[in-house]
Amino acid sequence: MANIYDSLTNLIGNTPLLELHNYRRNRNLPGRILAKLEYFNPAGSVKDRIAWGIIRQAEEAGKIRPGDLLVDVTSGNTGIALAAVAAARGYRTKFYLSDNISRDKIKLLRLYGAEIVEVENSFFLAPDALEKITARVQQENPTAFFTDQLANPVNPQTHFETTGPEVWRDTDGTVDFFVGGVGTGGTISGAGRFLKAQKPGLKVVIAEPAVESLPTEENPYPDEIDGVHKVSEVPPEQLPGNFDNTIADEVIALNTSDARATAAALVAEEGIFGGTSAGAVLWAATILAARPENAGKVIVAVLPDTGERYLTAVASSR
Ligand SMILES: Cc1ncc(COP(=O)(O)O)c(C=O)c1O
Repeated sequence: MANIYDSLTNLIGNTPLLELHNYRRNRNLPGRILAKLEYFNPAGSVKDRIAWGIIRQAEEAGKIRPGDLLVDVTSGNTGIALAAVAAARGYRTKFYLSDNISRDKIKLLRLYGAEIVEVENSFFLAPDALEKITARVQQENPTAFFTDQLANPVNPQTHFETTGPEVWRDTDGTVDFFVGGVGTGGTISGAGRFLKAQKPGLKVVIAEPAVESLPTEENPYPDEIDGVHKVSEVPPEQLPGNFDNTIADEVIALNTSDARATAAALVAEEGIFGGTSAGAVLWAATILAARPENAGKVIVAVLPDTGERYLTAVASSR
């Protein structure tokens, strides 16, 4: 029987869970780590899920028609995902990005035909940066549809309806830990909420950048972990609207060099090349798997994208 898909949008989600057997054996880890490989999405990241969720909802609500312009603030992956779904469904795209993001992502966005506005990285240091950038996007694009990944509730809802149920189904309910990073908070809040509703004892753990991996006034361009933000000790008004700050049972801080080293170990030992945030999430999962009390526990680590999206940055840091 023929098995033919009709649209890129039908290829989104249902990403595989891979048990990292070699990685576990090489470190004698008591816990089991299962990597959810989000680069299997058609535009290459976890963000394909929310791009399609947000666009589909806007179409169903009659808010957008082919030819319309979609705008958002993104560290790249959401832009790539929105641009891909927009290409498949006939929209134009424009994105506001901080000027430190991976050059590979910017090249890709231009190939998709997206219009790019680069914003100085130091702008995002201001306590009211999220509020200001949202106001600027709306003011400069009054007729565009603002997909608003940071606060659009369709983002966590999509993870509640897809990522969470997939993890539950594919582990046959055996998942004990769900580990991820926070960009908008959509993945961890939506999938975390779904999983905790199935299994109240399940732990949600966040991998966040340590202070040395964050920009400061003196050093606005450190080697950052693309796409993920610090969430502990951050005033609630500076957190994205889509982050549920009651969801995490633990937050593990790590620096960019540990994240990159972990991504390098993963590709060498399992043949899977994750991005920098994937390295960060896997390092946090490794810390959990190393605890004796977690012997035999099932730790699901969401790897948001592929390391190919950061090759230039990785090459220049060597
Ligand atoms: C590379 C990367 N990792 C992790 C995340 C975190 O995803 P979320 O926005 O669902 O919190 C993002 C999104 O910003 C990302 O682009």
